[in-house]
Amino acid sequence: MRRRFEPAGALRGRVAPPPDKSISHRAALLGAMCDEPVTVENYLYAEDTLSTLDALRSLGAALEPEEDGGLLVRGVGLRTAAPTTGGLLNVRNSGTLLRMLPGWLAGQPGGSWTLDGDESIRRRPVDRVVEPLRGMGARLEAREDRFPPLTVYGAELTAIDYELPVASAQVKSCVLVAALLAEGETSVTEPIPSRDHTERMLRRARVPVTREGRVVRVSPVDEIELERIVVPGDPSSAAFFAAAACLVAGSRIVIEGTALNWTRTGFFRIAARMGAVVVGELEDEPKPEADEEPVGELDVTQAPLEATAVEPDEVPLAIDELPLVALLGCFAEGQTVVRGAGELRVKETDRIAGVVEGLGGLGADIEAIEDGFVVTGGGGLRGGVLDARGDHRMAMLGAVAGLASREGVEVEGIEAAAISYPGFEDQVRALTDA
Ligand code: S3P
Repeated sequence: MRRRFEPAGALRGRVAPPPDKSISHRAALLGAMCDEPVTVENYLYAEDTLSTLDALRSLGAALEPEEDGGLLVRGVGLRTAAPTTGGLLNVRNSGTLLRMLPGWLAGQPGGSWTLDGDESIRRRPVDRVVEPLRGMGARLEAREDRFPPLTVYGAELTAIDYELPVASAQVKSCVLVAALLAEGETSVTEPIPSRDHTERMLRRARVPVTREGRVVRVSPVDEIELERIVVPGDPSSAAFFAAAACLVAGSRIVIEGTALNWTRTGFFRIAARMGAVVVGELEDEPKPEADEEPVGELDVTQAPLEATAVEPDEVPLAIDELPLVALLGCFAEGQTVVRGAGELRVKETDRIAGVVEGLGGLGADIEAIEDGFVVTGGGGLRGGVLDARGDHRMAMLGAVAGLASREGVEVEGIEAAAISYPGFEDQVRALTDA
């Protein structure tokens, strides 16, 4: 489906972003591992997180949507994921489900499951979870030992000391979940800190999780217990409107109820460094022992932007928002550079190629480098057509680019936005008609 986004006048108003995707996946998954029912308030009912509900139902859990947007999870317990009929779990487009779920399945001796999904998921590497889970004693088979379909044969696991070769919260979470079922203490060392929602939620579930520097440690438990989880708004979804407010002259928007966890708010720090006015109670440093998710408001006002350099240690803190950094870069004076972001090449699409070709086609002066991009800004964007290639974040990037452009942007494949942001187009209308 093609949709045109015209150049906008000042954006004004309040935005309540949809519930956080990462926290919703984790709430459903960890909820399914509990013996007692768990209430999740403000669950994200979007394509990706509906895939998680379906997969967990195939494993024997009952997940009942509630009228007020909540979800009641009646889990099966930590050690009793049921083998599915035919053994097939369809993760559709969800990389988080593809990487996290095997951690639980690997620790179920006697069970076997095959995870598969859409065309995009079949290009997403799973060797990153195969390697540690094999190291813990499970048997796994993948196409070319690297891509889905991925078959997991559960086993008695033993602890591992694992150094992540790439900063990935999905892989970290997979190993931490498997560690709940493994004999001994597992450690995971991250090259660079990544989002820590799994650690926070496990602490709330009374699992001993510690962090020293880049090392997270977890010991096995008999059971986990979570009573109520409240999912905050998604800062990655909020970032699209924040970017629009940074770019369109005269804009000021307030984003309400968003997660302000330090590991998720890198984009807002980058935008502020570029000159945008971002006011809010962002966590200003890592909180290694936290168990709650901080929530609050962000007030974003347009201002002239200057180029910046995003270095590798900032990348995991803004990984899904880096396409928006490229967009800001088009309007900023000077050269904006993003380095150390090779992971973008293995997202729902190759987001380095997609951003460079997509924004390039709209008139940006942008070049790909192996692990990022270089944007020479100041000229803004003319407009044109951007093909989302089935990638939700690319579809929303195109829409925001249209609002900030001189001639408007037609987004091919806007429906992909529903993977993480149902109602995205309505929200665009609400802010631009205000
Ligand atoms: C996610 C982690 C990130 C991110 C993805 C969600 C998560 O992936 O890109 O959208 O929920 O853990 P990686 O940690 O693999 O980079």
